[in-house]
Amino acid sequence: MTSFTLPKWYDLHVHLRQGDGMKAYIRAQLDMGCAGVLAMPNTKPPVGKVLKDDPLDYWCIEGYLDLIRTNGGDAFDDIIVPLYLTRDTTPDMIESGAKSGLLRAAKYYPPHGTTNADHGRPLQDFIDKDVLKAMQNNGIVLCVHGEEHGLSGAEYFDRNKTAEEVFYSQRLPKVRDALPGLKIVAEHITTKTAANFVQQSGDNVAATITPQHLLYTVGHLLQGLRYHLYCLPLLKFEDDRAALREAATATDNKKFFAGTDSAPHTTKCTPCGCAAGCFTGGVAPQLYAQAFEEAGCTLDRKENQNIFKQFLCSNGPDFYGLQTPSDTFILSREPQQIAALKTDDGDVTPLPLGLEQNTIPWSIK
Ligand code: NCD
Ligand code: ZN
Repeated sequence: MTSFTLPKWYDLHVHLRQGDGMKAYIRAQLDMGCAGVLAMPNTKPPVGKVLKDDPLDYWCIEGYLDLIRTNGGDAFDDIIVPLYLTRDTTPDMIESGAKSGLLRAAKYYPPHGTTNADHGRPLQDFIDKDVLKAMQNNGIVLCVHGEEHGLSGAEYFDRNKTAEEVFYSQRLPKVRDALPGLKIVAEHITTKTAANFVQQSGDNVAATITPQHLLYTVGHLLQGLRYHLYCLPLLKFEDDRAALREAATATDNKKFFAGTDSAPHTTKCTPCGCAAGCFTGGVAPQLYAQAFEEAGCTLDRKENQNIFKQFLCSNGPDFYGLQTPSDTFILSREPQQIAALKTDDGDVTPLPLGLEQNTIPWSIK
């Protein structure tokens, strides 16, 4: 049986929410060997300011960090909370936030583009208001949900072009070229177009890839309408998955890293549609290992274990300037049973339980 030891890793895109479920979501991260997280700011209200004494009517990075720590997150080595870019974000806020040490990243959400994205503004606004320039000048990372906003249904997801492809071929190249020193993370990429954009950009541009986008395609979601697989950006096609697999498992991969986008919802089906977000708390390294093997990168070979380690444990911390932790955990090719996560807020169904599979091929020791 194959088993190997890895340094603890950083999940560089996860939703820890707020309220009664938080403790369980944080526990699930710690249980899967997480040394730390980049915790998303799409809370209610969003994390739209840095400091407590800023009078704006948002939650602040300082306050959300405290909440995460008091709910079990004090066990993490480090936590990054990106600032949610809103109509009220100013270059001054970026500069003073950077000086305070609390602001390390900021998140672009396409307006109304996903769960709790109603405070998002078009990317152009942040160029016009010199917010992105202030980020570049202060070394603040731009985390991007890369889908073009405001498209009609027919333009949003078409056989030839999706909102993500429009964004990475028409919108983001202009930002990258105008601000060549800006650090950008293309988050949860799903297409060959996005992978190519990252590969063709400089060292200041990197990407996260989720377990679900390495494992599945849109056909898996549609066959049975498996709504637990419904997340945004939507799963794509076989050639897209192949491009993501190739990027993640390349021997010289330095740009692509783990960010699960684990996004717990206690109610997926609502009268107005399906909540977007897949939950992979507790199982993400195991699912990444499964995906690597399905991509032909078999993990009984030492050199492939090193490629996996680059993706899961090293590239992300290198990009964000985090220390690689000295603590370790063991990944083992031994089947593991999975169950719904019980939280004080209700049950959450992890992948691939939502696909009616209660066993995964890898486990954590
Ligand atoms: C996320 C969520 O549920 O908060 N959903 C998702 O589909 N990934 C929001 C997001 O990051 O898009
Ligand atoms: Zn997300």
